[in-house]
Amino acid sequence: MTKWNVYVTRMLPQPAIDLLKTHCEVEINPEDRVLTNEELIAKVKGRDAVLCLLTDNINAEVLDAAQGAKIFANYAVGYNNIDVAAAKVRGIMISNTPGVLTETTADLAWALLFATARRIVSADQYTRAGKFQGWSPMLFLGQDITGKTLGIYGGGRIGAAFGKKAKGFEMKIIYHDLVRNAQFEQETGATYVDRETILKESDFLSLHVPLLAETKHLISEAEFKMMKPTSILINTSRGPVIDEIALVKALREKEIWGAGLDVFEWEPELAPGLVELENVVIVPHIASASIETRTKMGVMAVENILAVMRGETPPNLVQD
Ligand SMILES: NC(=O)c1ccc[n+]([C@@H]2O[C@H](COP(=O)([O-])OP(=O)(O)OC[C@H]3O[C@@H](n4cnc5c(N)ncnc54)[C@H](O)[C@@H]3O)[C@@H](O)[C@H]2O)c1
Repeated sequence: MTKWNVYVTRMLPQPAIDLLKTHCEVEINPEDRVLTNEELIAKVKGRDAVLCLLTDNINAEVLDAAQGAKIFANYAVGYNNIDVAAAKVRGIMISNTPGVLTETTADLAWALLFATARRIVSADQYTRAGKFQGWSPMLFLGQDITGKTLGIYGGGRIGAAFGKKAKGFEMKIIYHDLVRNAQFEQETGATYVDRETILKESDFLSLHVPLLAETKHLISEAEFKMMKPTSILINTSRGPVIDEIALVKALREKEIWGAGLDVFEWEPELAPGLVELENVVIVPHIASASIETRTKMGVMAVENILAVMRGETPPNLVQD
């Protein structure tokens, strides 16, 4: 079998690259940065497959340039960065990396929940700055977690994994989705509620929906008005799911108590005013960033390419 010619848009964990190189001719973007549209167009030409990232905008122009390519393997479970319909028309398959990042992403959602509720980042900065003068009754008062109502918006793989981890905190779990997840309900006692109820009743509201036309600005001005003033919003899904201008306003005016964010509407740019707020914890899109998980994601993306090379259907073919 002739070796496939594969382009990788950014350096990935070595085991994934080693596996790919065993079977294919591989070129990797040597720079640790996102390629421009022009660079992507130039680099995908003449390839049999492309391993791309969520930061690559795989539009019709890029797909046209990749004429002859059989698959674009996305190094992410979300694939809102790819024009899947345009790929289908051109006979190019798209794959993603579901499952392997579920627990790691859910863990980060919990890390943000704790950090926001207990003001960990501000308290750390305060202590490092030498401001700690001894125990104080009113210092960094936060929100309790145990016994509260946990709202999960999107009860799919990551939302359900996030909910299961609530066990030790004796929380009331409510969730909203387009479809009910009976297994999740059985395992956790979670209650399925409508959109209005989850917004009104959650003490912590964590978002786990994909970014689609229907989920853009799912949480905006009207939703913040429905939420409790003591509530905390967590987002590890995709930035545009929250209207970030409305979020800054809601946090500033204390319509909600706090937010923990891994993703941003215009990342890597942040909405004006966000960084000045004390009641938000922000991290740079690291929800799946553990050594183990990023390696598994890389190997999974490569295995999808290798399957197509062997004439098989890729195990994680995006079916949209
Ligand atoms: N921050 C990160 O690094 C990171 C890592 C992994 C995944 N993600 C994001 O998390 C998303 C979810 O991943 P997953 O593996 O759990 O996907 P999934 O498909 O298993 O779950 C998504 C759930 O959202 C539900 N949903 C879709 N539209 C909805 C709507 N309008 N209202 C209510 N529910 C809706 C679906 O029915 C599904 O149950 C991904 O699409 C990705 O964008 C982010």
